Amino acid sequence: MKLGRMRACRRAQAGLPSLLLAIALLAAPAHAAAPQGGMVVAAEPAAARAGIAMLKAGGNAFDAAAATALALGVVEPGSSGIGGGGFFLLYIAKTHRYVMIDARETAPRLAGHGEVFRTQSSIDGPQSAGVPGLAAGIGLMVKRYGRLPLTRAMEPAIRLAKRGFPVSKRLAAMIRWRRTAFNPTARALFDKQEGEIIRQPQLAETLARLAARGMADFYRGETAGRLAADMRRDGGLIRRDDLTAYRAIERRPVAFDWRGFHVVSAALPSSGGLTLAHVFGQLAHDDLKRLAPADRAHLLIEAMKRAYRDRNQYLGDADFVAIPRDYLDPARLKRLRASIDMRHATPASRLKGLAEPGGAAANTTHFSVIDKDGNMVAATLSINYPFGSGYVSPSTGIVLNDEMDDFATRPGQPNAYGLVQGTANAVAPGKRMLSSMTPTFVIGPGKHGKNRTFIVGTPGGSRIISMVLLASLGFMLDETTPASWVNAPRFHHQFLPDVVQHEPGAFPPDVAAELKHRGHALKELKRRYGNMQAILYEHASGRLTGIPDARGHGAAVFLPR
Ligand code: DON
Repeated sequence: MKLGRMRACRRAQAGLPSLLLAIALLAAPAHAAAPQGGMVVAAEPAAARAGIAMLKAGGNAFDAAAATALALGVVEPGSSGIGGGGFFLLYIAKTHRYVMIDARETAPRLAGHGEVFRTQSSIDGPQSAGVPGLAAGIGLMVKRYGRLPLTRAMEPAIRLAKRGFPVSKRLAAMIRWRRTAFNPTARALFDKQEGEIIRQPQLAETLARLAARGMADFYRGETAGRLAADMRRDGGLIRRDDLTAYRAIERRPVAFDWRGFHVVSAALPSSGGLTLAHVFGQLAHDDLKRLAPADRAHLLIEAMKRAYRDRNQYLGDADFVAIPRDYLDPARLKRLRASIDMRHATPASRLKGLAEPGGAAANTTHFSVIDKDGNMVAATLSINYPFGSGYVSPSTGIVLNDEMDDFATRPGQPNAYGLVQGTANAVAPGKRMLSSMTPTFVIGPGKHGKNRTFIVGTPGGSRIISMVLLASLGFMLDETTPASWVNAPRFHHQFLPDVVQHEPGAFPPDVAAELKHRGHALKELKRRYGNMQAILYEHASGRLTGIPDARGHGAAVFLPR
């Protein structure tokens, strides 16, 4: 494989083949009926309502996304927040432009090249935290694209943090699972049973300070000072200079076409868009509609296996490592497609890659937004594990992420998601850890030839990409209802471990038997996974359908125009 010497992500993508460079304009929902109103679909109803409140106040989808993200950080404290990061994928209707706000965490300087994780955990405790990016990302998004002042977007989150909210069944389960990692502040705040109220006065104060002084305070002001002092005292690695150096970055999303559909998705340091492009590139000439169910499942599993192999081996922060120039080269993907034997599973050991695995569960959040002008946001935000590192900074009330574990802290060894990754994703000061978060827009014709847009994404660690792939295919193939694109049982292959992980019911018995016969190791997971929050926008009528995942208790809130 030829290795290019490209450093900037922008340039790295410019160097990728034309598959990626399908011009966004072609697929922009031009000549469409405007949406019938605005909509926010989020994992927590209170957060969806926070977004809708911005639309009511005259804000646009970007103001709504800011308010939803901030509120989620309060009412889903185990999943995301200003102590973490994420990716906002935006469609700016007026200029027909797609952009990605990269608010991914960076490695603190003291993390060096990961030596610290030889003796200390990259999952539990303050040393597992990367430099948080969410506050900067929200600040950048609202400043460049919002209509309301940032203070407005912060109001619902401040109110929710002060007033409190009851612990849901889902959150109670996360708390039980994670409480042993809690520091005393986290324990005092979150060690609660279902139905008890969580109030976060310290976080409310921090958010109010950021509202008054701007997000810069998080990185260069009083909040930065407090966070850095807590970190120094409690064994964390983040220092003031790491915070000062942090920048959210606007990047060009990954975009490609597949059989009449246009897909726009997250760029590096998320592996999501490139991995989707890799799978669809392998399937460039496959008419999936005509395949028998077992053949379709087999082909998808084999394509996932090959795409995750490349992801795990070659991808990392493109500002630090060179991504192979021919990563998505159609000829290379065609060769990979040709290596798929339709009658036999290819053992991972026969595909040149990295060696063996592990496994675990966790949390993150996704929400989707559209406004009456057609602006759209798909945002996936994370603190990685449930309650991140388990460490809450006592003087700010901020839950710190444990995103350092998304690096290959020990290249060749599995991380919490069983991903075995290479040196491209090794730790380096200031570098962003590779992510699987895949906020995505898919645009293309429905049954009646009229264009539709699907706004989609989900939490779920390494399985995020295969979930978005399957839901996107549901939309593209259009054989079932929108609800089942999201709710159908899922399956996943990530190269290593060399098994097809799947939800109960993902394969009818005859398909499962056939897959086993072809040599696939099927592993039924005890629990269903993911928490997708999607919107379907039909261009001809302007109709919006919100599709919260039945696995969670998310809500679609609609505001008619
Ligand atoms: O960025 C990533 O790939 C992970 N930190 C996402 C973690 C996640 O989705 C956990 N959710 N269940």
